[in-house]
Amino acid sequence: MLFLTMHMVHVLTVILWIGGLAFVTGIVLPMAIKTPDPLQKVLTFQRIEHRFAPLAKAYNIIVGITGFVMVWQTGWYELYFRPGGWALTFMTAVWVFWFVMLVGLEPTVIRKMLDRMAREGATMDIDGIFRKVKTLHWVMVAISLAASAAGVLVAHG
Ligand code: HEM
Repeated sequence: MLFLTMHMVHVLTVILWIGGLAFVTGIVLPMAIKTPDPLQKVLTFQRIEHRFAPLAKAYNIIVGITGFVMVWQTGWYELYFRPGGWALTFMTAVWVFWFVMLVGLEPTVIRKMLDRMAREGATMDIDGIFRKVKTLHWVMVAISLAASAAGVLVAHG
């Protein structure tokens, strides 16, 4: 019963999280990039980022807790770094990447960078930065989908 509950919460939170990320990447970011005024461009993205980041952090923590409870319950931690446990290891590694991004970098480096872009945008290559942000977001969508596919393999493979 505990396992089933954890599994459901894990999957539902992944849907909200990665769905939200895909929305930001596929809809919001192109909208911001199309905005001609550099300051408006930064503010559009910054407003949404400031709202989505705390949600993504909560999703990351819930996915992590439910995942680790399942691993602890089943004793699958023994599979880590073994050939038969690559899918579990990969899913956990992607989670660690996200944890570092959301809990470590977002409140410090990323937030400060966006604030600086809003302040000193005129002197910066805003379009160049947005091109990098766009690539980074698509990479994050790709690795998150890969982590989800790895999860399906763990559950049904
Ligand atoms: C980016 C992070 C993660 C994503 C996107 C993700 C996604 C998924 C998905 C889509 C499933 C498949 C469920 C199904 O097909 O029924 C799954 C299963 C699973 N996940 Fe994750 N997961 C993540 C992180 C973690 C972490 C950190 C752990 C634990 C350390 C974990 C442990 C598990 C386990 C044990 C299952 C298999 C459940 C079963 O066999 O029924 N996941 N995950």
